[in-house]
Amino acid sequence: MEKTSTTTRPPTGLVETAFTVNGEEVCLALDPRESLLDVLRERLVLTGTKKGCDQGQCGACTVHIDGRRVVSCLTPAVQVAGQDVTTIEGVAAPDGTLHPLQQAFVDCDALQCGYCTPGQVMSGLACLAEGHTGTDGDIREYMSGNLCRCGAYVGITAAIRRVAEQAEQAEQAEQAEQAEQAEQSEQPEQSEQPEQAEQSEQSEV
Ligand code: FES
Ligand code: FES
Repeated sequence: MEKTSTTTRPPTGLVETAFTVNGEEVCLALDPRESLLDVLRERLVLTGTKKGCDQGQCGACTVHIDGRRVVSCLTPAVQVAGQDVTTIEGVAAPDGTLHPLQQAFVDCDALQCGYCTPGQVMSGLACLAEGHTGTDGDIREYMSGNLCRCGAYVGITAAIRRVAEQAEQAEQAEQAEQAEQAEQSEQPEQSEQPEQAEQSEQSEV
């Protein structure tokens, strides 16, 4: 009796996929098996995003998709069609000025070899945006998907805490300024009152 093979062949068709990376549109013919990580590193030469385990365990490959952090090694590149991808290359200002979190990593000694750092920064930015910075314990928990073989965890937590505190101080300063402006805008009305009273007094005479 003739045997029928049950082995399925991997798909070979390429899929036209358009998305943006750090604000720039890209359109590529992709093999559906290609990971976003490989496409970023090998096709787009954005090598800031690192390959550690390639199995979703270390966080070295963390990028943002539409503002959410994902491990790019487990994300098929075709899945990001129509979405915005941000890598570590898109974090600093166009003139090269570091993002406050990148600066805080430098200032707080949050890296040694630097291999895990791009992923740590991308997760740290998400951690700040998500508001998971109430305590050092919160920061550690929400950064626990990012491993550091050099053990720079103390500095990483300090860097994220510093930026969270800076954001809080800026918010408080803004609120104080708004309150002051509101107070000043109320003052002319009060000073008008005596004038109005004077005018009505004159009209009575
Ligand atoms: S390389 Fe993606 S999680 Fe390790
Ligand atoms: S700084 Fe070396 S792996 Fe984290």
